[in-house]
Amino acid sequence: MSAVKKIAVLTSGGDSQGMNAAVRAVVRSGLYRGLEVFGIQRGYQGLLNEDLRPMDLRSVGDIIQRGGTILQTARCKEFMTSEGQQRGADVLRKYGIDGLVVIGGDGSYQGANKLSKLGIKTMGLPGTIDNDIPFTDFTIGFDTAVSIVVDAINKLRDTMTSHERSSVVEVMGRHCGDIALYAGLASGAESILVPEVPFDIREISRRMKENFQNGKRHSIIIVAEGVGRGEDIAREITEHSGIEPRVTVLGHIQRGGTPTHNDRILASRLGDFAVQRLVEGDSGKACGIIKGELVTTDIEKVVSTKKTIDMELYNLALRLAQ
Ligand code: ADP
Ligand code: F6P
Repeated sequence: MSAVKKIAVLTSGGDSQGMNAAVRAVVRSGLYRGLEVFGIQRGYQGLLNEDLRPMDLRSVGDIIQRGGTILQTARCKEFMTSEGQQRGADVLRKYGIDGLVVIGGDGSYQGANKLSKLGIKTMGLPGTIDNDIPFTDFTIGFDTAVSIVVDAINKLRDTMTSHERSSVVEVMGRHCGDIALYAGLASGAESILVPEVPFDIREISRRMKENFQNGKRHSIIIVAEGVGRGEDIAREITEHSGIEPRVTVLGHIQRGGTPTHNDRILASRLGDFAVQRLVEGDSGKACGIIKGELVTTDIEKVVSTKKTIDMELYNLALRLAQ
């Protein structure tokens, strides 16, 4: 006997590559288990607008390889209020929906937590390029975003080396430096500036100057947007060293394009897992992956914990960037 009969899925907040693969997995896993599955359009906004439709096997065909989200996404102010949340729960009950899968970042998880407290059986899936969700090693979209940044840095390196220049690359990550850290380590960046770790711009400038004097032919400084604007960092470097780095802001390019196989597989596993947990009677949880194992954690605990940066990786990147 399944604990749920009719479930719905929505994507919310900033989109990420692999959200479609997660939607596909939730829909097909639900149908496979004999459930009715609804897709809610435009996140919590669509829930309040009762913008939902039944999904069948074909409605999620040909999307596993696509970035973005076929369910679209939105930011919804009304859902931040207790009245909005109550109305959201009422809409779900009106349609007889007894389980909800929310795919999104920490803000979306806050909303899922509120619905869970209002008695809706809810599961969160980590869908954000930022990798800023605790109790999961990786979020859906992060691997693709890092690949995009690494590819961009490869290209920058070519031209920086030819001209013996330095390059400041600003990447996404409002509160979390993981994109900067992983892309920086993977591309051999000289400096990785993240919001979680204090840094000394004078020391960075001094090292850059010294490295150029010692025969380095380029330098890459990767800056997470949570630290500040790449332009400002470049100006400070010029003030302290006379070096004039070129600045590249990668912006929303990091959030688009075809998801990597890692993101597709993560999304497929997590989507299926979320449905399985709902069927077995679990709720109020966030699904994640830790050391390769699928896990659930109380969503309340997830939203009240701040993700920390992996200092071992950070120090490794520092050691190798000399
Ligand atoms: P992300 O999920 O990518 O972090 P946001 O922070 O923009 O994106 O959150 C997405 C949506 O989740 C918001 O527009 C809002 O509707 C809902 N949300 C965010 N924070 C809360 C909250 N504290 N309570 C209820 N809903 C919230
Ligand atoms: O998805 C998270 C994120 O990419 C942040 O790193 C960034 O600050 C933000 O989204 C920007 O999103 P938007 O332009 O949609 O507000």
